[in-house]
Amino acid sequence: MKTQDFIEIEEQYGAHNYHPLDVVIEKAEGVWVYDVEGRKYLDCLSAYSAVNQGHVHPEILKALLEQAKKVTLTSRAFRNDQLPMLYKELSEMSGYEISLPMNSGAEAVETAVKLARKWAYQVKKVPRHQAEIIVAGNNFHGRTVTIVSFSTEPSYRDDFGPFTPGFVVVEYGDASAVEKAITPNTAAVLLEPIQGEAGVIVPPAGYLKAVAEICRKNNVLFIADEIQTGLGRTGKLFAAQHDGVRADITIVGKALSGGFYPVSAILADKAVLGLFQPGEHGSTFGGNPLAAAVARASLRVLREEKLAERSAELGEYFIEQLSEITSPHVKEVRGKGLLIGVELKPEAGGARRFCEALKSKGILAKETHDNVIRFAPPLVIDKETIDWALPSIRETLNMT
Ligand SMILES: Cc1ncc(COP(=O)(O)O)c(C=O)c1O
Repeated sequence: MKTQDFIEIEEQYGAHNYHPLDVVIEKAEGVWVYDVEGRKYLDCLSAYSAVNQGHVHPEILKALLEQAKKVTLTSRAFRNDQLPMLYKELSEMSGYEISLPMNSGAEAVETAVKLARKWAYQVKKVPRHQAEIIVAGNNFHGRTVTIVSFSTEPSYRDDFGPFTPGFVVVEYGDASAVEKAITPNTAAVLLEPIQGEAGVIVPPAGYLKAVAEICRKNNVLFIADEIQTGLGRTGKLFAAQHDGVRADITIVGKALSGGFYPVSAILADKAVLGLFQPGEHGSTFGGNPLAAAVARASLRVLREEKLAERSAELGEYFIEQLSEITSPHVKEVRGKGLLIGVELKPEAGGARRFCEALKSKGILAKETHDNVIRFAPPLVIDKETIDWALPSIRETLNMT
């Protein structure tokens, strides 16, 4: 079967909730993916930063296969021999005392929201069911009803009410807006350290630090959604570290499994995450031994291959090279580490056509919102490969 045959079947039998580029991938390795017609592409999306360790990393594959032969799912009704080790390794790597595993990113965000509310009632003594969480405009935290309740993007939200109350939206990048929105009922501030889906929006330096300080002064939890920015993507283990911030709750997902399997988690200290009691929260698949084995291997690869450091170094190079491209269409190049956005001018005709053109040159990148091309290759990319891609990117950004 050819590309078009797969597309027709997908269009006929699948829901149309995505608008993918018309490339049908059948295998991948490292930074490269291959389509059903044998064409090779550089992956500059990394499945929205889930494949930081590169596609089908051999060490993670080995862990997956070995564990799959032993036991895959116990549920948390029983214990398994992988989860304790994941807890320990996550704690040693992140500096947080404990963690709670989930599956998708959205579930981990929901977990953090529930925990913040519980903390507000039990510790801060907010009147029951009055807790508020402050979030930022243009946020992206996932797709559940509660999460889209505080989205400001009409297409994510408009047809999906009634909405969950208890969220207050303020402008991203403005710490004083957070301060003004705090009331005695504020449980938490939930932010992305860099807004990935909004178009790689990097807040002013010092913003996260100022927000964290405001939270501390007002007895409010600071929650960092590092699902996209965490685990090395921006050149540090967590993007909040660029501002010297340690959030009260850090949410991770995506690259926690190197792209093999949905694994997410929230990380916090016992004073907060210790509040959950048996029966109050859970997930059949959360913390299963296959997920835990895969996550352990994924973290090991991040550490052993020093992928955060690599991302810092190569990201700086990539951003510098992209910034040097003269193009009538480019408004701004921005990012941190290997999370890079190239914003086009409104008159450029949208980022999609540039992504289509890049695809025809063997580079897969995806538009985020209408005018931003995101470049976020797996962190195992090397300088030679970036140098290979640059002439094609330059040519594409100069097309008419
Ligand atoms: C910052 C952030 N939070 C949450 C999510 C949701 O994760 P998932 O799609 O695994 O539910 C995403 C996904 O793109 C994200 O970028």
